[in-house]
Amino acid sequence: MTGPSALVTGIGELVTNDASWGPGPLGLLADAALVVTAGRVAWVGAAGRAPDADERIDLGGRTVLPGFVDSHTHLVFAGDRSAEFAARMAGRRYDGGGIASTVAATRQASDDELRTRLRVLAAEMRAQGTTTVEVKSGYGLTVEDEVRALRLAREVTEETTFLGAHVVPAEYAGRSDEYVALVTGPMLAACAPYARWVDVFCEPSSPHAFDGPAARAVLEAGRAAGLELRVHANQLGEGPGVQLAVELGAASADHCTHLSDSDVEALAGGTTVATLLPGAEFSTRSPYPDARRLLGAGVTVALATDCNPGSSYTSSMALCVALAVREMRMTTEEAVWAATAGGARALRRFDIGHLAVGARAHLVVLDAPSHSHLAYRPGVPLAHPLQLDGPQSS
Ligand code: NIG
Ligand code: FE
Repeated sequence: MTGPSALVTGIGELVTNDASWGPGPLGLLADAALVVTAGRVAWVGAAGRAPDADERIDLGGRTVLPGFVDSHTHLVFAGDRSAEFAARMAGRRYDGGGIASTVAATRQASDDELRTRLRVLAAEMRAQGTTTVEVKSGYGLTVEDEVRALRLAREVTEETTFLGAHVVPAEYAGRSDEYVALVTGPMLAACAPYARWVDVFCEPSSPHAFDGPAARAVLEAGRAAGLELRVHANQLGEGPGVQLAVELGAASADHCTHLSDSDVEALAGGTTVATLLPGAEFSTRSPYPDARRLLGAGVTVALATDCNPGSSYTSSMALCVALAVREMRMTTEEAVWAATAGGARALRRFDIGHLAVGARAHLVVLDAPSHSHLAYRPGVPLAHPLQLDGPQSS
């Protein structure tokens, strides 16, 4: 070990997501400890066998898990759509049409207004145990406004996603081919330097989003520009999104609310993670995705918040875990795994989402004796990031 080390001990339950520690996906260890050096996990094991370290933190029997990996958010926006939410709760359907009002508000906002909101939301997430967040553009929809969104997003995360193909903006109504040409041409060229990922809202059943051929064009152009792929797929109805994502080797197909048998088969046979966003079903009063069908088929499942002002204005991964358990019948183990290791897989990250030697020491403490409390005590702020002294890397 080099540099100052910290021993975290008194861990009543340690979620490692390292299956070599025991039965089940979480690799649970009771009465555990771990040592952190230079921001990485340097040792994991029974508290009674822990080595000495420069600093010692005793958690008094609380739970430790890897930080939540929120692999799907839209945090760069202005405006408020609480009236749209209230109308939905009174019976109106969600079809993505409200995105236009956020686009209008976002275009009018100053950089500082957007930055302030983005930082508040990112801080909210951190305070609740999210240690890695993906952030999409998609509320600018001009070359300049999409670049601006991605530059701002880069201030809070490396996991930035170009979503110029979120909807067809009002000024291109009836000319979606021309808008796709803009997205795949000058907009992509200007945005690619600030993005790791490209995404598209592939939803032929929405009058505002993109059909299969348009989505393919966006994804192929993004890939040719050096970006990796993720897809908003099958949120509002069945469609080509999931199979396109699998065919093109996307890291993740997100939403997956309406799936055919062949969609499930494709996911099970491919390398694409199914990222479920139960905050969106909660907030649009839609049927939840069938997580059991996906898990039963052997599909890798992730959970994320989809934090955005329209369909899911929550920053809480703990809420998503609770919804996944209560409403989607995931076990507590499956849901916690999906919110940590699953999110890491959806971002093709191998340094986060687990707590084995060499992994980033993104530690979250639960004020509770076991991970089940995340769902057992819904709405209670149990999860906090563990701040260690000394240099920590993100
Ligand atoms: O993931 N589905 C498309 N995009 C977002 C919703 C954005 C909005 O309504 O503002 C989603 O749910
Ligand atoms: Fe989304």
